[in-house]
Amino acid sequence: MASFNLLLLPGDGIGPEVMTEVGRVLTWLDKNSGATFETETDLVGGSAYDAHGESISDDAMDKAQKADAVIFGAVGGPKWDSVPYEVRPEAGLLRLRKDLELFANLRPAICYPALADASSLKRDVIEGLDILILRELTGGVYFGEPKEIVTLENGEKRAVDTQLYTTHEIERIARVAFELARARNNKVTSMEKRNVMRSGVLWNQLVSAVHKAEYPDVELEHMLADAGGMQLVRWPKQFDVIVTDNLFGDMLSDVAAMLTGSLGMLPSASLGAPDPETGKRKALYEPVHGSAPDIAGKGIANPIAMIASLGMALRYSCDMGDAADLVDGAIADVLASGARTADLAAKGQNSVSTSDMGDAILAAMSKRA
Ligand code: NAI
Ligand code: MG
Repeated sequence: MASFNLLLLPGDGIGPEVMTEVGRVLTWLDKNSGATFETETDLVGGSAYDAHGESISDDAMDKAQKADAVIFGAVGGPKWDSVPYEVRPEAGLLRLRKDLELFANLRPAICYPALADASSLKRDVIEGLDILILRELTGGVYFGEPKEIVTLENGEKRAVDTQLYTTHEIERIARVAFELARARNNKVTSMEKRNVMRSGVLWNQLVSAVHKAEYPDVELEHMLADAGGMQLVRWPKQFDVIVTDNLFGDMLSDVAAMLTGSLGMLPSASLGAPDPETGKRKALYEPVHGSAPDIAGKGIANPIAMIASLGMALRYSCDMGDAADLVDGAIADVLASGARTADLAAKGQNSVSTSDMGDAILAAMSKRA
């Protein structure tokens, strides 16, 4: 029987509240899915800083390295606004991304039919949308050197950021894109700006080369990133997997996210390279939203983004596509039944609590199983 070891890092604010619902889903899966899940829980972010003066301990990092996947809540909040920069809550997440070398960031944009009217786009354009934005996460202009502000002799200042990509970095993200597409609708759209950026030229050439040599069965299309932004709001259903660099991916994934409504709905995954021996990738799964200090402690946070992030872990780290489909299907059922947490409820509509939403999802899972 398959057995998985998950490290749960609930974090701060609503992080622990939504992680509680993930714990309940895991208990259900442990009983009903044919796989077993061992979990350990540790501190990250402000709560880790309060306990031992750093935003993640070496011990927790060690557990993260050994786990099949890290399930991460959210970190931060006004309480820690003035702690030293190196130990601020976000530093814990950044260390995880860096030490686990999580270079591939997956951001699905899914529009549940029941929520299509919450989008700023017309129902027809958005209903049934299911696309995946794959953002390169550890290279590009956010990390390239030189990166500085210098004062020139005439007293003016000059700021420099460097967009920098190597063959290795582009090829490995391209492979992830094609692998993902094979398990979905078999189409990749690669976005860059080869008309004005040398890194775009190299990106375009290498994605084509990887395609030709290793994934000729997948449909590949190239699109300039600015045109891609237009197409995302014009007719997003034309896409399946979009692969792009760190900067464009940051912006395009936020645009795609908002096509579908609330922040409380959006999961994400960050994957590392496959281990040469086991083929397993290091991985971290987290909702896109933050710690929502404005609603923390009230029991009203929407747990769907967090539960859907666990769904992604089942799909990409546990090879349990059926269980992942079960979780996603249960979420769709519950939304179709009309249950809404406060962030989703229309004005005047009754809303349900975090744990009520968890109850409803568990019931829908049992019904489907
Ligand atoms: P946020 O995502 O925490 O909240 C933005 C708005 O969305 C708030 O009104 C919040 O109540 C609402 N919201 C977010 N998630 C929700 C959910 N699951 N259910 C219902 N409503 C939800 O972003 P904000 O306010 O900019 O940041 C708050 C704190 O979170 C800051 O300390 C920030 O640094 C941190 N943060 C942490 C992230 C992480 O851990 N990866 C990501 C983004 C922000
Ligand atoms: Mg962003």
